[in-house]
Amino acid sequence: MTDDVLIVHGGTPLQGQIRVRGAKNLVSKAMVAALLGESPSRLFDVPRIRDVEVVRGLLEIHGVKVSDGVEDGELVMDPTNVESASTDEINVHAGSSRIPILLCGPLLHRLGHAFIPDLGGCHIGPRPIDFHIKALREFGAVVDKTPEGMHLSAPNGLHGAKLELPYPSVGATEQVLLTAVRAEGVTELRNAAIEPEIIDLICVLQKMGAIITVHTDRVIEIQGVPRLYGYEHKPIPDRIEAASWAAAALATRGEIEVVGARQADMMTFLNVFRSIGGELKITDDRVARAGVTGAEGGIKFWHPGGELKAVALETDVHPGFMTDWQQPLVVALTQAHGISIMHETVYEQRLGYTEALNQMGATIQVYRDCLGGTPCRFGRRNFMHSAVIAGPSKLHAADLIIPDLRAGFAHLIAALAAEGTSRVYGVNLINRGYEGFEAKLAALGAHVERP
Ligand code: EPZ
Repeated sequence: MTDDVLIVHGGTPLQGQIRVRGAKNLVSKAMVAALLGESPSRLFDVPRIRDVEVVRGLLEIHGVKVSDGVEDGELVMDPTNVESASTDEINVHAGSSRIPILLCGPLLHRLGHAFIPDLGGCHIGPRPIDFHIKALREFGAVVDKTPEGMHLSAPNGLHGAKLELPYPSVGATEQVLLTAVRAEGVTELRNAAIEPEIIDLICVLQKMGAIITVHTDRVIEIQGVPRLYGYEHKPIPDRIEAASWAAAALATRGEIEVVGARQADMMTFLNVFRSIGGELKITDDRVARAGVTGAEGGIKFWHPGGELKAVALETDVHPGFMTDWQQPLVVALTQAHGISIMHETVYEQRLGYTEALNQMGATIQVYRDCLGGTPCRFGRRNFMHSAVIAGPSKLHAADLIIPDLRAGFAHLIAALAAEGTSRVYGVNLINRGYEGFEAKLAALGAHVERP
């Protein structure tokens, strides 16, 4: 692990400008959607992150020609010769990401069968796939789970269905969209997720020829079509990365302008940021285009000096406070005056990283109880899913081991905010979702080095 450690000399406010590109959690799904088309697709502003490489590999073993376009960040995907991949080729990707599960519908449409390896992704709870499997079976897929993975076939084709999710799962909603667009007949999905990344995926599918209506109250209706074509798309910016840098600005008492960040997708975060006492300035890209700023739009986040205020928060599905904003923000909350509360209602085990923060001097206590009013599936089930954060705490350096992507970035922020020199192990994991984070840290004046 010696080449996978970052030495962080903390205590310096991060200052400067960085840019975020297309959202990881849209880009990877849009790449899967390209499989459904009969002609090439072009995706712009694709970040260089490991999750994109994983999906690229999966597409390539299934015969999709993937190449870099002329523009920086442009990806061209040609699915005209989709073919079966061998189990060995597919298993190379076992455990690397959650995305393979979304290939089910597209591969069934293109090949009539699919094999999905064991899934990976961050260890933040059991992360079952029961909603996915139930939905696929209702479309008519035959799903055979084996120890090595999942074999699927559709002997009678895929047909539209009336579905209702027990919880508005992002992945299961994407599964239904990617399967229903080419299934015969109409699909109605109730209790769907409506995250901005889902709406952007719907935009991609509509460009391909799909007919999808988003009704009120989380109902999505999809009218199946026999054929889809390639798309050209610029994804929504990464609102998780943008919020991570915003939290870093607050925790280190700095000032970071996140070029490319978009207000509309981050309203809930921006309200919280302001309630804590952070300052922000939004440069709308429409204003930028009108030549007022002469630059691409973005959001500048800074610590105005003085005391930060404690808040009570609950994570939730959109339009609530995202679970992926939680960890970086908790680091900033260790610097707020008073008692903050964070009730995590999306994942049952997403507070384990707070232990390391306590070792650095934070005072965070986690509870099994629901400390908030949002209906939650985890209360009374023995999951430590509420945190009480007493601040402000002076953070000191420590040796840290990165547990998962977002918690990993939170650890990094804590090390940057702490006095002294920390060693952050397993730091390469951050490349899964944060493009060029070391170059961005350097641009922001952080004192970090590889041993
Ligand atoms: C997506 O995961 C994101 N990942 C996650 O981001 C994000 O935290 C999450 O949505 C919520 O916004 C990607 O887009 C690749 P879910 P997903 O299905 O789709 C339960 C990151 O760091 N559930 O909405 O896997 C599940 O256990 C990652 O970028 C079932 O019970 O999340 C969880 O409690 C981490 N059965 C809840 O639903 C199922 O079949 C929400 O999960 C499916 C989900």
